[in-house]
Amino acid sequence: MEPPAIRIQDLTRVYSARKGFLFNEVVRTEALRGVNLEVRRGEIFGLLGPNGAGKTTLTKILATLLLPTSGRAEVLGLDVAKEAYRIRPRIGLVLGGERGLYNRVSGRENLRYFADLYGIELAGRDRRIDDMLQLVGLSDAADRRVEEYSRGMKQKLHLARGLLHDPEILFLDEPTIGLDPKSARETRKFVRSLVAGGVTIFLTSHYMFEAEELCQRIAVLTRGRIVATDTVAALRGLVGGDRTIELEGHDFEDAELDRLRRLPGVSRLLTEEFGPLERITLRVRGLEVDLPRVRSSLPGRPQIEIRERRTSLEDIYLDLVEEEAL
Ligand SMILES: Nc1ncnc2c1ncn2[C@@H]1O[C@H](COP(=O)(O)OP(=O)(O)OP(=O)(O)O)[C@@H](O)[C@H]1O
Ligand SMILES: [Mg+2]
Repeated sequence: MEPPAIRIQDLTRVYSARKGFLFNEVVRTEALRGVNLEVRRGEIFGLLGPNGAGKTTLTKILATLLLPTSGRAEVLGLDVAKEAYRIRPRIGLVLGGERGLYNRVSGRENLRYFADLYGIELAGRDRRIDDMLQLVGLSDAADRRVEEYSRGMKQKLHLARGLLHDPEILFLDEPTIGLDPKSARETRKFVRSLVAGGVTIFLTSHYMFEAEELCQRIAVLTRGRIVATDTVAALRGLVGGDRTIELEGHDFEDAELDRLRRLPGVSRLLTEEFGPLERITLRVRGLEVDLPRVRSSLPGRPQIEIRERRTSLEDIYLDLVEEEAL
């Protein structure tokens, strides 16, 4: 049987950094603390988590840029610690941001440089580069110097670079960071088209709607541990309901909150303050509670605004990350 795209077992990574006046103090950071994960071939898999959760560390280990401290990670059935040289030709990596390009030469020349580095045969090289420039929409700017490129154009060039050697898996660390909405949308469309062509995508993002729109399955990583892995639909069930009811008003009383909490199907109640305004968010399972029922549980309060929406990935994410922090 064909191995999965990625298989991770009990993976840890510790960083040791020297600090202090004489660099005599060693600070250990446990960036990954026992990660288990499997990514199938051909799926778009999203890794979400707060700043410092370990997403880039995990991505770098899978892309063979960093060694694990313990545990095991396999990419296309190959061990990242022992068979990196066999993995590298079969994967692409795109880290967000502007580094890693040569600014003084053109986009096309950048790609020629990387093509040679990847050992792409000279015979088909320039044709392949033309195709990639076309694919990411940079054909017209191909011969301009990269220093004249906008951020979005640089990101597109990064994507073209990551795809030059026709990888089976593409690792994208925050692929749309810093892009304007139109470029971000084009990038997402492009990522989707890659999957249609059979590429497996492993992506990290801080944009929940992006992950919700693109990813078949999602893992949430907080402080080096995975707290949930599933489809968005299944995660909705996990965190207590696919319906979310929001109430906005002033000076909610404890008795009122208690009444809301006791409504059938309500699994979670969150309160937030926006200046003088309070927002109550209810996570609701089943259909028993509708908006009139919520309203009638708060008699004499006609000024409270009540609305319902589908539980979003952002809600799920915040529930999971918050639970972990408790
Ligand atoms: N080279 C390094 N040396 C020491 N500590 C590091 C190093 N790189 C990362 N860390 C630490 O490891 C932890 C995980 O960092 P990582 O960059 O993987 O997080 P991340 O999830 O990608 O965060 P972000 O969303 O901000 O990109 C953090 O505590 C970070 O400070
Ligand atoms: Mg990161």
